[in-house]
Amino acid sequence: MKSISLLLALYLFQPAALAYIWPNPPIDGLEDAYTISSGFGALGIVDDVTPCTLGPAGSGRQTSAEWLRTAYHDMATYDSATGLGGLDASIGFETNRPENIGTAFNTTMSFFNVIQTNHMSCECVILAIKNCGGPSIPFRPGCIDATEAGPSGVPQPTESLETHIHHEFARQGFNATEMIGLVACGHTLGGVHQVDFLSIVANAITPENQEGVVHFDDTSGVYDNHIAVQYFNGSSVDPLVINSNSDAAIFGSDGNQTMREFAQDSEFYISRCGELLERMLNTVPSSVKLGDVIEPLPVKPYDMNLFFNATGGLQFSGFIRIFGTSDEAAAANPLDMPVRLVWLDRHGGSSTSYTTPAVSAEFMAATSLFGSLQFFQFVDVDIDPSLGISSFVVEWAYDQQSALTTANNGGAGFPYQDVILFQTKGSCHGAVDKNSTINAVVSTSLNKILIINTHPFRFGTTWAPSPMYMWTTASRRRNKAR
Ligand code: HEM
Repeated sequence: MKSISLLLALYLFQPAALAYIWPNPPIDGLEDAYTISSGFGALGIVDDVTPCTLGPAGSGRQTSAEWLRTAYHDMATYDSATGLGGLDASIGFETNRPENIGTAFNTTMSFFNVIQTNHMSCECVILAIKNCGGPSIPFRPGCIDATEAGPSGVPQPTESLETHIHHEFARQGFNATEMIGLVACGHTLGGVHQVDFLSIVANAITPENQEGVVHFDDTSGVYDNHIAVQYFNGSSVDPLVINSNSDAAIFGSDGNQTMREFAQDSEFYISRCGELLERMLNTVPSSVKLGDVIEPLPVKPYDMNLFFNATGGLQFSGFIRIFGTSDEAAAANPLDMPVRLVWLDRHGGSSTSYTTPAVSAEFMAATSLFGSLQFFQFVDVDIDPSLGISSFVVEWAYDQQSALTTANNGGAGFPYQDVILFQTKGSCHGAVDKNSTINAVVSTSLNKILIINTHPFRFGTTWAPSPMYMWTTASRRRNKAR
C-alpha cells in the first residue's frame, strides 16, 4: 500500500525543474495560456480582449484598458523601503477606496477569478497589451494572491507633481523619468470616464457612450505612441492634459524630453514601454520570489492519454504542438508537415515498430500572439502492455522535403509513465473533490499496472478489485469518523 501511495505522490507532485523541461504541471498550463491565443487549446483570454476595443461590461468601456489600469493600481501601493504592497491582487479587497474609483476593478477581478490560478492575472495583462499591438513583455510566474487589503497609495489626478514624483513613484521604485514613461505607456489605451471623474470630463455621455468615456488619444484601441505624438504636436485629446493638469504636468516635467523621444520614434516607445511595464508587473511584495521567464516551448505534448480500451488493449492518444517564430514556421502548412512520435518501452528498449505518425486537421487550427503554432494528433496507438512506454521524442519538419528535426525535451526525451493510468473514458472527471470516490485496480496479468478512475466502472475479466479500492473506501470511512 505504501508503494502505491508513494507512486501517486511522485506522479502528482513532481518537483519543478530548473529549466523548463516538460512536464512541469504548474508551468505547463501557464505556458499553454501564454502561447495558445486562439483556436484549439486556447483558454479564451485573448478572445476576451479581441478586438482591443472590446468592452462588453458597458458602452464605451474597454476590457484591455481596464486590465492594464487594474494592474497599475494593484502595483501602485508598493513601498520599496518596506517591500510591502505591490502586485498581489490585493486590489480585490481595496475597490471601495476613493483611490480606486470605478467599477472596472471589480469587473476585472471577477474575470481573473474565473480563469484564475494566482499566476494568471499578470499573464492576462501581458496578453492584452500584446494583442493591442504593444510590446512582448516577458512573463514570470509566481505571483501570490493576498488574502486581505494592503497599504494604500495610488496616485490621484488631483495631487501635485511633487507628490507624484517624490512620494508615489519614488516609493514604487520609479524615478522621475521612468514615471513619465510609465504614465505615457498606460495612457495609450482607454480613457477617462465621465461617470467616475465628473470634474474632469463633462457632456460626454450619449446613448452610445453611456459612461462618457473620452479617450487619451485618437487610437485608443491600438497600443501605440499617439499619446506622445498628439501631446507633442499640440493636438492632444487626453482629458488629463486638457481638463486636468495631471498628465500635462507629468509629461512636461523633464522639459518634454521623454515625450519628444516617444513621439519621434514609435519603436522606441514600444520597447521602452515593454521594459517599464515588465518592471511594473514584476513589482511584487518582497516576500514573493518570481520564477524564471516562461517562453513558448518549440515542441510540446498536449492532452496525452494512455489508457486501457474496452477489450483490455493498452492505447496511447494525444496531441503534439509545434511553435516557431521563423518565416518558415509562418509559411508552414500543417497538413503537409511530417510529424511522428518515437518511443522507448518501459525498460528503455527501442524497436522499429515503436513509432506513430501524428497528423493535423482543420479543427486543430490555433494562433499565437508570439509566433506560429500547429497541432498534430495521434489516436489510439497500440502499445504492448507487457513492454509499456517510458519516454518519446518527436521527429518533425516544416515540409516533406526538409530533414527531420528531433525534439528530445532537453536531452532525455519526453517522459511518459505507464504505472498509473487515468481511465478518462471510464471516468466522470472535472469536478473531483475530497468527497469523490477514486477507484483503483491492479492488474494481475499485466505487470501490475494500476488504473484509477473517479466513478465505478465495470472491470473486465482480467481485472480484480485491488486492495487500493478497499483502502480508499475504508480510509474515507475512517476520515469521516474522525
Ligand atoms: C500619476 C499617475 C496616474 C494618474 C493620476 C492616473 C489617472 C487616471 C485617471 C483619472 C483615469 C481615468 C479612470 C476612469 O475614468 O475610470 C485613468 C485611466 C487609465 N489609466 Fe491612469 N493614471 C496614472 C498612471 C497610470 C499608469 C502608470 C498606468 C499604467 C501603466 C495607467 C493606466 C491607465 C489606463 C489603461 C487607463 C484607462 C482605463 C479605462 O479606459 O478603463 N495609469 N488614469
